[in-house]
Amino acid sequence: MPRLSGKVAIVTGAGRLGNIGVAICRSFLAEGARAVVATDFRTDSSDEIETLIAADGHAGAFRLVRHDVTSEADWQQVAKAAVDEFGQLDVLVNNAGISVHGGIGSTSLDDLHKVMAVNHDGLFLGIKTCAPYLASAVERFGGGGSIINNLSMASYMPNAANIGYHVSKAAGRMLTVCAALEYGAQKIRVNSVHPGVTMTPLIREGLEDYVRSGMWGSVDEAESALAAMNPLGIASQPEDTAHAFVYLASDEARFVTGASICHDGAIGLRY
Ligand SMILES: NC(=O)c1ccc[n+]([C@@H]2O[C@H](COP(=O)([O-])OP(=O)(O)OC[C@H]3O[C@@H](n4cnc5c(N)ncnc54)[C@H](O)[C@@H]3O)[C@@H](O)[C@H]2O)c1
Repeated sequence: MPRLSGKVAIVTGAGRLGNIGVAICRSFLAEGARAVVATDFRTDSSDEIETLIAADGHAGAFRLVRHDVTSEADWQQVAKAAVDEFGQLDVLVNNAGISVHGGIGSTSLDDLHKVMAVNHDGLFLGIKTCAPYLASAVERFGGGGSIINNLSMASYMPNAANIGYHVSKAAGRMLTVCAALEYGAQKIRVNSVHPGVTMTPLIREGLEDYVRSGMWGSVDEAESALAAMNPLGIASQPEDTAHAFVYLASDEARFVTGASICHDGAIGLRY
């Protein structure tokens, strides 16, 4: 039987072709999810994403909706619409995230608030809004609903040049464990995934900047250099990362809550 048979999921930050959110949606549908509601505040690649999902054969089970994760009203609308259309909600993936570069001296309070609003408050609102719907998944699957926060190795690794991102991702980890304690009695599991560098368009664009600055000769060269930083010597693709989400969403993980999967090729061990 497919691992996510019959489940209905919301996946945030899934509005950009090639990113981790889209890979999670495709993996969930490939594993038998009954429906996946993908959300994002950007809609410029919606048509391409919908075409891709249709080519996978899952058009009828996929919705892509505009949603700002920092808006409580948007969350209420998205969660209610998912349950109204599909009758249930079993999995919430808080994947949307942003980064603002700079240390304390060069980061404005406004920029810090922006990154905290998406990477922390967005998770808080998602959990708060969706938990009552997820709690009703208990009866159907015997293991309750599942919330999975896409964080980063930044939750654990300090970086003085990128404090907003690292502090917000560390806060996301504490939110994850507190939520695991609070919602355990309702059989809602709350876990986090901590990717290392994953080759999404966002990362490729960053590498192009380094290529322009002369640090590397090409994006491929830069990718190889990044791969060499972990003991496995490979660069993770979004599809690799998505496997961790499938596991945590599935009933195979029914005894797993408050856990943190470091999906980083052990790059964290080098620091
Ligand atoms: N790619 C990596 O190397 C890597 C490593 C560690 C962690 N992560 C995390 O994985 C997640 C996905 O990253 P990605 O690499 O796929 O990047 P990405 O930028 O393609 O994906 C993030 C998505 O979140 C959306 N988003 C941003 N603010 C939003 C808001 N207010 N409301 C709704 N959507 C919003 C963006 O439009 C984007 O589509 C992020 O949380 C990121 O921090 C990525």
